[in-house]
Amino acid sequence: MPRVPVKLVSWDEIVEWSWGLAKKIMESGYKPDAIVAVARGGYVPARLLCDFLDINDLLSIQSQHWVEAAKAAERAILKYPYKVDMKGKRLLIVDDIVDTGETLLLARDYIKKAWEPDEVRIAVLQWISPVAKFKPDYYHIEVKDWTWFQYPWTRLEDTQQFIQRILREDERFKGKKEIARSDLENAFEEWYGIRPEELGWYWEEALRRVSGKTNVKIV
Ligand code: ADE
Repeated sequence: MPRVPVKLVSWDEIVEWSWGLAKKIMESGYKPDAIVAVARGGYVPARLLCDFLDINDLLSIQSQHWVEAAKAAERAILKYPYKVDMKGKRLLIVDDIVDTGETLLLARDYIKKAWEPDEVRIAVLQWISPVAKFKPDYYHIEVKDWTWFQYPWTRLEDTQQFIQRILREDERFKGKKEIARSDLENAFEEWYGIRPEELGWYWEEALRRVSGKTNVKIV
C-alpha cells in the first residue's frame, strides 16, 4: 500500500464525469442562471458544465484550503472576496471535489450572504463521503476511501510537491545533496502508488524544477 493513495485522472475522464454531472443536474430540473467556479479546481468542470447545460454566465471566486498536494493547511480562506448583485438569480457553485468541504462551505456561505441570490446549489465531480462535512446537491462519484485525485490541471504542480515531500520526509533522502534518479523513482512509486513513467513529460519537467528550487542534485 502506498503512503498516499493517488489516482491519476485523465482529461477524458474529466469530460465523462462532467457530462455525468450535467445529466444529474438536468434530470433534477434545476436551471441555474449562472455558474460560479470555485478557483482553482472548479474552473474546468465549471466551463464544461456551461457548455453541457447551455449556460452563458460564468463567475468565479477563490477559496482555498490545501496549500500543498495531499496535505492540509489549517483552514479555508476566501482570497479575493467581492460583491455582485445576484438578487432574483439561481446559482450553481461548481468545484472539482468535496474533500472536507470547508473551502466550498466558506464560498457558499459568503455567496449567499454577500450576493443574495434566490437559490444556491453545489455541484462537484467527486464527493469523499467519509470525511466531508456535507453532502453536495450534485456529485458524479462518491469516494469511500480517501484518495488524492491527481487532476490533469495540477499535474506539474502536484508532481513537484510529491517529489518535494519525499525529499523532506523520507529518511533515505533527508539532508542528501545528491540522490540517484532511480532511487527517487522507486521511492515515488512506493509513496504514491504510481510510476513516474505514467506522468510522461510532466515527470521530467517536475524533476528539473525541483532541482532548481532545492539544493538537491538528481543524478
Ligand atoms: N483537493 C482537496 N482534496 C483533494 C483530493 N483528495 N484530491 C484532489 N484534489 C483535492
